[in-house]
Amino acid sequence: MLIPELIRKKREGFSLSENEIKCFVDGAGKGTWPDYQLSAMLMAIFFEGMTTRETSNLTHHMASSGKILSWPDLPGPAIDKHSTGGVGDKTSIILGPLAAACGVFVPMISGRGLGHTGGTLDKLESIPGFNVRLNLDSFEKILRTLGIAMIGQTTEIAPADRILYSLRDVTATVESIPLITASILSKKIAEGIQGLIMDVKTGMGAFMPEVAKARKLAKSIVNTARKSGIHCQAIITNMDSPLGYKIGNALEIQECIEILKGNGPEDTRELSINLAAKMVQMGGIKPDLNEATRLVRDKLANGEGLAKFSALIQAQGGDPRVIDNPNMLEVSTQTFEIKALESGWLNAIDASKLGWAACHLGAGRDKAEASVDAGVGIILHRKPSCRVTKGDIIMELRHRNGKGLEKASELCQHSLAIDEKPRSEIQLILEEII
Ligand code: URA
Repeated sequence: MLIPELIRKKREGFSLSENEIKCFVDGAGKGTWPDYQLSAMLMAIFFEGMTTRETSNLTHHMASSGKILSWPDLPGPAIDKHSTGGVGDKTSIILGPLAAACGVFVPMISGRGLGHTGGTLDKLESIPGFNVRLNLDSFEKILRTLGIAMIGQTTEIAPADRILYSLRDVTATVESIPLITASILSKKIAEGIQGLIMDVKTGMGAFMPEVAKARKLAKSIVNTARKSGIHCQAIITNMDSPLGYKIGNALEIQECIEILKGNGPEDTRELSINLAAKMVQMGGIKPDLNEATRLVRDKLANGEGLAKFSALIQAQGGDPRVIDNPNMLEVSTQTFEIKALESGWLNAIDASKLGWAACHLGAGRDKAEASVDAGVGIILHRKPSCRVTKGDIIMELRHRNGKGLEKASELCQHSLAIDEKPRSEIQLILEEII
């Protein structure tokens, strides 16, 4: 079939055969389809969806577009965690070192910013010298020595996802269950892990704002992973408001360091501990979840998690002095304050609006080839739910010479829900899919 015929077939709502899916994935991975045809197919999949069989085939061929690693002789379990994408969600950078300090091996392959959500790779690259483009030999050496290494999709690992991910980011084709499932699992299958803990986000700042759709996404990921031989559990967590107080690449690394030092915001710390404990349990290091949680808390309290992060930074070419001097992470000193326009209860701060605001400031991309500004973002001074008085500073924007500031400040101002009465509190962890 010609490429336009394949695109038309999906656009008309028909299922694609395994060979047709392979042809599309090869088109991305081997560069035989131009970006405009890949993007058109992504949009057709976005609107028409995929069957379970198509999603499995897409996942399998995206994983097989590069090497699939395996770790038969690692002296511990290879387990990873991934999130479906959030705002201020920096948990991978906290829980990875914590889980590794407990004896889990974490060969983490992450993504860049996607849509309005931040990406682990962009955050790590804000650390001076940190290299997320290791070759496979270095990746393996660091993993074996430290128990953790963190890289991105490469021309060797999940190359089809590298291309499709960057196209989805800038063509408004992110919020699709089959595309998210295949994107995440292609990287995870390529990692050669035994187990995966998924954090599936729901709420205003998530790709699946309604819980029912988030549940569908969680089930799609868990079932597709299991078909590929990966033990997978998911939790559904609330992303109405951003996680933590800091949004933006360097700002989020600062917050990760604060948390690994035993301080920082409770929501991000507790979610990181919860997810790390599930990895420890899944890896069989502590089969009882309470004991696994205790072990993770010990590693946080005794500084082993922080030491592991420092060693990881050094091993991947970064400057570990950022740990003692987080001001080495360049953050713009140009600020703009967002104040409460009325008094009342600050019941919500719409995470989606803040995510887009951060993108306008330069923390995310609007074109595939664009670079991000690591030093811009948003610092929250207040979080829901609390009482505020007209004129209180709710957040400050860190901008670069006013770039994107007008739109960003408008979005941030509109993100605030201030009401007369407090809303009942929403739990962070909503459901578990085991
Ligand atoms: N994370 C990914 O790796 N891919 C997605 O599509 C969403 C989140």
